[in-house]
Amino acid sequence: MLIEKVMLNDGNMMPRVGLGTYEVRGGQGLNQILAAIQSGYRLLDTSTNYDSEGIVGEAIRRSGVRRSEFFVTTKLPGKYHHYKDTLDAIQESLCRMGLAYFDLYLIHWPLPQRNLYDEAWRAMLTAQQLGLVRSIGVSNFEPQHLDHLIQETGVVPAVNQIEVHPYWINQRMIDENQKRNIVTEAWSPLGRHNEAKSEAALVDLARKYHKTPSQIILRWHLDKGVVPLPRSQNLAHQRDNLAVFDFKLMHQDMALIDTLTQKNGRIDNQDPNTYEEFE
Ligand SMILES: NC(=O)c1ccc[n+]([C@@H]2O[C@H](COP(=O)([O-])OP(=O)(O)OC[C@H]3O[C@@H](n4cnc5c(N)ncnc54)[C@H](OP(=O)(O)O)[C@@H]3O)[C@@H](O)[C@H]2O)c1
Repeated sequence: MLIEKVMLNDGNMMPRVGLGTYEVRGGQGLNQILAAIQSGYRLLDTSTNYDSEGIVGEAIRRSGVRRSEFFVTTKLPGKYHHYKDTLDAIQESLCRMGLAYFDLYLIHWPLPQRNLYDEAWRAMLTAQQLGLVRSIGVSNFEPQHLDHLIQETGVVPAVNQIEVHPYWINQRMIDENQKRNIVTEAWSPLGRHNEAKSEAALVDLARKYHKTPSQIILRWHLDKGVVPLPRSQNLAHQRDNLAVFDFKLMHQDMALIDTLTQKNGRIDNQDPNTYEEFE
């Protein structure tokens, strides 16, 4: 399965679809990640807070696929935003995963009430200089958080991973990222457990394009220039979620999906301006 790539603002290349690993755990989770790698996934998205770093690293080793073919991402927990804590956390995650470097390391949440994310960012710049991480980025950052980092260090994040799905299209943040030459990654790209996948409009479009509703949603992300990170523990779904590079949505169909967005469409009502995650 050929997965297209996108160039980040630091010149590194990233696959345009990745595998989410939230709540994928234990031996069963390991086998599911291994199956996904065998189906062609190379971008693997984990986080210290998901408790899946160990099995992602183990799946990489067991797969027999060269390390250089993977694009491994993990994220910094809120409790480690101080400079030295960040550097220690990166090294601890590398040891846990049995890797020498990360392709992408993200600040998981800005936690503006704590206001330490620029300290974490400086530590990530050091980690990059040390060769521990290749690209650095953020997650759940609002425009003012992005601008603060850029003003303080002159370094623009390569990626901002944010909530995007049909009930929360988040076009404002997609546009803000694009203005700053930051690639948008979509978390919960299929809307996790919400009803989006069975919306009549998506079922009709699936029939029209001979695809599944989930594939229509993933293509909608790609046609917006967004990199989706669908999670699936089901082999057939994992494969379907990669089979999205052989069609494109017509303009009016993109616009139709955009109309599904809802005022309170966030999955867990996590507003990055107020969300506090100290673990
Ligand atoms: N940065 C952040 O703050 C943040 C927050 C949340 C998530 N994330 C990342 O984003 C990833 C994805 O988000 P998510 O895990 O919340 O949810 P998601 O990918 O939007 O949805 C996962 C759900 O969709 C189902 N699904 C997947 N493919 C399908 C298909 N082709 N047909 C039908 N159902 C399908 C899965 O069930 P099956 O297993 O049965 O296929 C699962 O129940 C996470 O795993 C994580 O890596 C990041």
